[in-house]
Amino acid sequence: MSIIKSHIAQMGAYKPPLEGRDPHDHLLLDFNERTLPVCPSVKQAMIDFIQDDRLQCYPSYGNITAKIAEYCDVDPEQVMITNGSDQGIEMIIRSTCREGEEAIIPGPSFAMYSQVAKVENLKIIEPSFSKETGFPKQKVLDALSDKTRLIVISNPNNPSGTIAPREDILEIAAAAPDAAILVDECYFEYTRKTVADAVDQHPNLLITRTFSKTWGLPSVRLGYVISHAENIRALLNVRGPYDINQLAVVAIDAALSNPGYTERYVKEVMEVSKPLLEAFLNEKGIDYWPSVANFIWTFPDNPNEIEKHLRAHHILIRPKADESGRVGLRINLGNKAQTENLIRTLSQII
Ligand SMILES: Cc1ncc(COP(=O)(O)O)c(C=O)c1O
Repeated sequence: MSIIKSHIAQMGAYKPPLEGRDPHDHLLLDFNERTLPVCPSVKQAMIDFIQDDRLQCYPSYGNITAKIAEYCDVDPEQVMITNGSDQGIEMIIRSTCREGEEAIIPGPSFAMYSQVAKVENLKIIEPSFSKETGFPKQKVLDALSDKTRLIVISNPNNPSGTIAPREDILEIAAAAPDAAILVDECYFEYTRKTVADAVDQHPNLLITRTFSKTWGLPSVRLGYVISHAENIRALLNVRGPYDINQLAVVAIDAALSNPGYTERYVKEVMEVSKPLLEAFLNEKGIDYWPSVANFIWTFPDNPNEIEKHLRAHHILIRPKADESGRVGLRINLGNKAQTENLIRTLSQII
């Protein structure tokens, strides 16, 4: 008999295809990452920290929470830093749901939500996003029951790039006051759309965000949760005192002191690169989901061939099937030159 809980022993691991990814050898358009290095002051802050002989000390977080709260325009008591937003997602689900309760997770979506829900042995209900109407608000409302303890709103959703309107999120929060409404704002900097200002009005809202995407720091792992101060106080009982490493805090402190490098990148991606790729897809008649984020979910006739061709030309993208099993290609955008390179390479095969 396994000493591991049987439902966990029977699960599969969440294994993103990370093998062989090398930013010096590939154009990486497969993980929705920033495609350019971070600004020099962030790197220098990390080097200075190492040179200052502080690695032998346990991490202490100083005023980083207050600095993040200021960036988010919320109170420091409404923020908790986490080891990537993955840890925020995990802690929220672990702290709010009991075995056998129901989680509504519209799909397809980011794998981590259902992975954690499975670990907690929740019953997962998965209404589908649609290309025409985006977030399935009515299906979520229809799925509510007295066992609903979690509703995930990935906003914008990965891989579809669709966004749930603020009114829909608040309507769901009001309709399900006993459920945690996990709003994942991982791509916030691309949309500037948030419900962070509504956490006092709706204490069941728990928002996750990250420095992994636009800020270009997924390797150091720093995310945060925004919620009502009482929730944050309780979640801090669950998070370990050293879960976030000190180098992450040093890097993010420096990044927040120089947000211009992120803002310039977002502007180029959204105002130059995205229209370029959309124009190409339109010209070639390739179906795609309208996206508000830095990635586009496309449905060409020959996805496998295209993926292989790009890979042979050192460009990585990510196959992602829709609910019917049709394989699409999720392509994230880089800067103008990288997008032109992508389009040139795609033109050889489409
Ligand atoms: C929607 C969404 N949420 C969360 C994450 C994970 O972010 P982090 O690196 O902060 O754990 C991702 C990563 O791809 C994502 O797409």
